[in-house]
Amino acid sequence: MQFHSRVLGCGAYLPERVVTNDELARKIDTSDAWIVERTGIRERRVAAPGERTSDLALAAARAAIAEAGIEAKAIDLVVLATTTPDDTFPATAARVQAALGIDRGAAYDVQAVCAGFIYALAAADNAIRLGQAKCALVIGAETFTRLLDWGDRNTCVLFGDGAGAVVLKSFPGAPGPKKRGVLSTHLHTDGRLYDLLYVDGGPSSNQTTGHVRMHGKEVFRHAVSKLADVVDEALAANKLKPGAVDWLVPHQANARIIDAMARKLGLGAERVIKTVARHANTSAASVPLALAEGVADGRIRPGQLLLLEAIGGGLAWGAALVRW
Ligand code: ACO
Repeated sequence: MQFHSRVLGCGAYLPERVVTNDELARKIDTSDAWIVERTGIRERRVAAPGERTSDLALAAARAAIAEAGIEAKAIDLVVLATTTPDDTFPATAARVQAALGIDRGAAYDVQAVCAGFIYALAAADNAIRLGQAKCALVIGAETFTRLLDWGDRNTCVLFGDGAGAVVLKSFPGAPGPKKRGVLSTHLHTDGRLYDLLYVDGGPSSNQTTGHVRMHGKEVFRHAVSKLADVVDEALAANKLKPGAVDWLVPHQANARIIDAMARKLGLGAERVIKTVARHANTSAASVPLALAEGVADGRIRPGQLLLLEAIGGGLAWGAALVRW
């Protein structure tokens, strides 16, 4: 028996506090003009003291479950993409699972930094295809600002906090380009590029949480070429041309990377969901946050073809084609 997964609903949550570029410029040597020109970012959300990744994840999950019109108890798999778990262990997904009153199936975290949501979506979709799960909750959630060195202007202006989630349900039959659901997922990692973007701490290396360190120009260069390759791979695997894509839902790291991808695909700005100006880079949360915004404001409609892509530390990257 073959199965494919379909998205029943999505949801998002953003912490209340808005931090503008001007606020950062009062504390470090930067300016709104520099940040906007180089990244497109104007402001970001920052979680309140005591607000944890699981709190953000739970709020987004509840919104997605409500939109899906299911009972939380129907969920038999929770996959949470995060690089900022509540604790070193157990998985933050376990806390979310319990808070939703789910007492069966599996719950685990996926660590692929900014590509995390694509990896989590792939894991859940594969489980559904194999018949291991019937209803999956896929979350991207981050309190990424907790990893920032607020004195390092190279990195601290780029990131924000947030969460997004989708509910996937199993339907009978193989996936296909004309069917609603996840058409395919494509994942890559090149660990030789580990040192381009990393956190200088961890339980095994120095028992601290650490701060983000990044070679921005190199990351930028790899991001554009690797995302272009994986997008080609996703389209070719489904025998689709870029013109078939209704919406590009990209990782929201930098407006210049997003614009380069849209140009490559020949998609006008009116077919790109772009939230980077208001959310900044929320790592694993960025793609589902953009997705939820596009659905909530009525741009993304049933039957449309979405191309999701993301890249981040690892370097790890991926793409997914989804017929909404
Ligand atoms: N404000 C003012 N000046 C700054 C700031 C800042 N916030 N940050 C850096 N600068 C300075 C640098 O110190 C440098 O000064 P110098 O020439 O005197 O040494 C100058 O600006 C130019 O710096 P570059 O690093 O060359 O600037 P660039 O045009 O490459 O832009 C940026 C930097 C925005 C980080 C860019 O490289 C980028 O976006 N890279 C991708 C990184 C990324 O998105 N990472 C997120 C995680 S990975 C992912 O999600 C894809």
